[in-house]
Amino acid sequence: MKDRLEQIREEVRTQIEAAGTLEKLNEVRVSALGKKGALTEVLKGMKNVAAEERPKIGQMVNETRAQIEAMLDETKKRMEAAVREARLKEEVIDVTLPAKKNQIGHRHPNSIALEEVERIFVGMGYEVVEGPEIESDYYNFEALNIPKGHPTRDEQDTFYINDEIVLRTQTSPVQVRVMEQGKLPIRMIAPGRVFRSDEVDATHSPSFHQIEGMVIDKHITFADLKGTLQEFARELFGEETRVKFRPHHFPFTEPSAEVDVSCFKCGGKGCRFCKGSGWIEILGCGMVHPRVLKMSGIDPEEYSGFAFGIGLERIALLKYEIDDMRLLYENDIRFLKQF
Ligand code: DAH
Repeated sequence: MKDRLEQIREEVRTQIEAAGTLEKLNEVRVSALGKKGALTEVLKGMKNVAAEERPKIGQMVNETRAQIEAMLDETKKRMEAAVREARLKEEVIDVTLPAKKNQIGHRHPNSIALEEVERIFVGMGYEVVEGPEIESDYYNFEALNIPKGHPTRDEQDTFYINDEIVLRTQTSPVQVRVMEQGKLPIRMIAPGRVFRSDEVDATHSPSFHQIEGMVIDKHITFADLKGTLQEFARELFGEETRVKFRPHHFPFTEPSAEVDVSCFKCGGKGCRFCKGSGWIEILGCGMVHPRVLKMSGIDPEEYSGFAFGIGLERIALLKYEIDDMRLLYENDIRFLKQF
């Protein structure tokens, strides 16, 4: 019996040594110590052993079992340590490597300029509103006193979706939409994208941005318009900025004007930037035409107001001294990073 037990132990030892993985080792454990294992076989054979021999043999079986268990446990520990070691080696982080630089985006000059303009007008109590880019002929033209056949329609080369629907050529239709809501007084700006069928060059693009402005209340005069835009120009371009109103014509305002600011580069002496004139044009404006008020349900006898339209790209180009509008649309990060 002693020989048989020794034989079993040595067989298991060989199997343990051959087991390369934890799974294989577990299989050895089951086949050696399990219900169908060799040791169990020996115990089952006990009934054929004389009664006085049984305790001795039982003890021998237990000793063998303990030896096998010890071998299994020791091997298991060694294997687990090896697995852990391998994993640590694989997962090692070299903290001395230089970090990868994350390329993050950058704010666009248009966005920076728009925020600046919004900040100024919100500071004067204006609300910022938006209107649709796909607009009806009525809001884009008709309600702004630009009937069919009006020459202004030719000046603004329009993308027509059909006879009645256009891509808005200006943000002025937002004026009409706000007036129609009938909540007075009105003090709003409306920034947004507009579209004109223009060829791309240094100063033109088929899609650009405007910021519309409108104030409607009792007793609003041209003096209010002048004071407001003068203050706006000073905040945007600096305290020293002077403002000039040149008579102009827009169908939806009467009287109308274009506004020039003194060149912030040369202070008005004349330079390359202002093409020698000392002045730079920044926007169009005027007193809202009584017919426009009436069409939107506001009584021109009781209310009056002014409106203005600013080209956002023009402000961005001026403020950041960019000489080609196309740069604003290419979104080259090396360009954008500079602002
Ligand atoms: N909508 C005009 C344009 O696109 C700009 C403009 C001029 C808007 C005068 C106004 C205004 O509100 O009063 O050329």
